[in-house]
Amino acid sequence: MDNRNKANVLIVDDEPNARKVLSAILKEVPYNIYQADGADEASEIVSSEDIDVVITDIKMPGKDGLYLFNYLKLNCPDIPVIFLTAFGTVDSAVTAMTEGAFFYFIKPPDYAKLKAILARAVEQKKLKNEITDLRSQLESTYKFSSIIGKSPGMESVFRMVEAIKDSSISVLVSGETGTGKELLANAIHYTSRRHYSPFVAVNCAAVPHELLEAEFFGYERGAFTGAVSRRIGKFEEADTGTLFLDEIGELELSLQAKILRAIQEKEIERIGANKKIKIDIRLIASTNRDLAKEVEQKNFRADLYYRLNVMQIKLPPLRKRKSDIPLLVTHFIDKFSQRENKHVSSVSPDVMNVFLSHSWPGNLRELENVIERAVVLARDEVIGIRGIPDEIKKQAINNNIRADVVKPLRELENETIINAINTFNGNKSKAAKALGITRKALYNRLRKANSFL
Ligand SMILES: Nc1ncnc2c1ncn2[C@@H]1O[C@H](COP(=O)(O)OP(=O)(O)OP(=O)(O)O)[C@@H](O)[C@H]1O
Ligand SMILES: [Mg+2]
Repeated sequence: MDNRNKANVLIVDDEPNARKVLSAILKEVPYNIYQADGADEASEIVSSEDIDVVITDIKMPGKDGLYLFNYLKLNCPDIPVIFLTAFGTVDSAVTAMTEGAFFYFIKPPDYAKLKAILARAVEQKKLKNEITDLRSQLESTYKFSSIIGKSPGMESVFRMVEAIKDSSISVLVSGETGTGKELLANAIHYTSRRHYSPFVAVNCAAVPHELLEAEFFGYERGAFTGAVSRRIGKFEEADTGTLFLDEIGELELSLQAKILRAIQEKEIERIGANKKIKIDIRLIASTNRDLAKEVEQKNFRADLYYRLNVMQIKLPPLRKRKSDIPLLVTHFIDKFSQRENKHVSSVSPDVMNVFLSHSWPGNLRELENVIERAVVLARDEVIGIRGIPDEIKKQAINNNIRADVVKPLRELENETIINAINTFNGNKSKAAKALGITRKALYNRLRKANSFL
């Protein structure tokens, strides 16, 4: 068995001899043995190595085994802890058992039994690891597949996400309201290698300005009137994970400076503290404003903008990716049909025409809301024109009338292409065949259409 498959066991005891004997005995079993002379060294090892089980003495000078137990419970609750205790400390060991310790032995232990219990502890840890792995796999497939889109605009968004997901570079996600900025920020986090760590979101527009600094950086007890106890800020909460600053364009200039400093120096200071805290976060910011313009008008700091703009992902508005509409419609119908326990499966062709003619100022959120309402009201499997709000029908008709007066050839071509894709449920090969052009030609035309629609 190579070392990577062996379980890692950490022995903590202040007496070198006790550690030596125990590690000699356990080495017969294929474990990687680590040793620590106290709680401090132990917590260091646990943070740098992938420890599976801890065996610890209780009575040690300075921080004792119970301190270590509590530290582990907070920081790595999945590691089973086995206590070795002298007669005098049996009571504490029993108490620890009621609080989740794995087992305790009175010194000198029965080594055969200790080995058996240790094997069980290792087994338990492995199972917990598997569950964590499965959960995060599920999370990442779920998160990424929930972003629907096959239009060239979205495909270039996906390519960019793929390229930058594992880097720690800050990302600016821009787009009109309802284009999916928050969904994309989630997807970047859950497909990145940080997905085991927290995704923490702050909506800069929703928190009152005077509270934002405390929200970001936290504070010490007594830092200001009302600070009755210490509070951790969002930057610290997101440590090792991703911090999502939604609507960053709403931030006041003074806070923008503080955010820039925090991401540049990779450290923060809680309000009222004089100690810097190291942080390792990936920042994703979103905006529905034109930040370049905000910089010109001196509402947004140029230095922060340049820092964020290194990697900007622009989400196209729905009217510029109409070829995604059929797919999105199916996706939202499935979502709400399931929730409502209904059997709605599609929209009628005239509804689809209305959808393709509407300009969707509220983007995907507007489409989602229209479908939610239609599914709730639907009596049949197919959503008919009566299930669609009048304003949307009116606007769609207006758009069409305008187009009927002077209908440029290019527009006709685009409509035909979209209809074909729509007819074949987004299958571009079939659509191309029906249009009498190659798949490649279809892609080229779509790319052109995309900048036109
Ligand atoms: N590509 C997509 N596929 C499926 N659903 C999407 C997609 N994009 C957005 N949505 C859905 O549309 C709704 C709006 O998305 P989201 O909240 O991410 O938009 P936003 O850009 O953050 O909007 P706002 O600027 O108003 O905050 C959400 O319910 C989201 O799940
Ligand atoms: Mg949002």
